[in-house]
Amino acid sequence: MIDELRTERLLLRPLTLDDADEYFRVYGDPRTWAHLPSGRHTSREESERAIQRSIDSQVRFGFSHCAVILRDGVEGLAAGSFLGTAGASMLAFEAWNLGYRFSPEAWGRGFATEAAIAALDAARRAQPAIPVTARVLATNSASQRVLERLDVELVWRGRSADAPADDADTAHLERLIFADRPIDAATLDAVIALG
Ligand SMILES: CC(C)(COP(=O)(O)OP(=O)(O)OC[C@H]1O[C@@H](n2cnc3c(N)ncnc32)[C@H](O)[C@@H]1OP(=O)(O)O)[C@@H](O)C(=O)NCCC(=O)NCCS
Repeated sequence: MIDELRTERLLLRPLTLDDADEYFRVYGDPRTWAHLPSGRHTSREESERAIQRSIDSQVRFGFSHCAVILRDGVEGLAAGSFLGTAGASMLAFEAWNLGYRFSPEAWGRGFATEAAIAALDAARRAQPAIPVTARVLATNSASQRVLERLDVELVWRGRSADAPADDADTAHLERLIFADRPIDAATLDAVIALG
């Protein structure tokens, strides 16, 4: 079981329901869903349910999405600030899905990269035999920049399953899939099918 992770500037710790207000502040903010507006949380309850899934995953798989807390204050952000989340969730098959979402006030300072490196390492330690994958929309350059700096490789690029093949307007739904090791065709197909 992975508990707390410390990086140079950040503390990653398991989410609790006490984080619901801060979590909803990030997950309910349209700026954090600019590339996928339908994913935005529209109620605190939705955020509570997501946190509960993380708590359950932590118990079952030894790791999950974490609260990312700033250890020492930096310009505009106080020590102890809840910056967002980073971690991994177990898919319905044997693969982790790495993810991160940060408050816009925290963007552009390398925090997501720093947290994602720690999260990737933790997911591997929690379940060494299970590959870590990450999906990103081709339009989400910031997230791609983060992934490019991790120990993962691009394994697939294409239209997501939910994009109608005949609709040129869905080019923005192109996705990239990264993985931390070679993955078999069945696993790749299953990740692609997630959309
Ligand atoms: C993706 C996200 C977590 C990045 O957070 P961050 O703390 O700003 O990330 P970092 O500072 O570690 O790195 C961001 C990189 O993207 C670059 N970047 C930021 N915005 C960009 C943009 N609009 N276009 C291109 N590159 C961009 C930054 O310049 C930086 O690269 P650099 O260090 O080479 O200059 C943050 O933008 C976010 O929360 N977005 C909304 C949620 C999301 O998209 N999550 C991922 C879903 S797959």
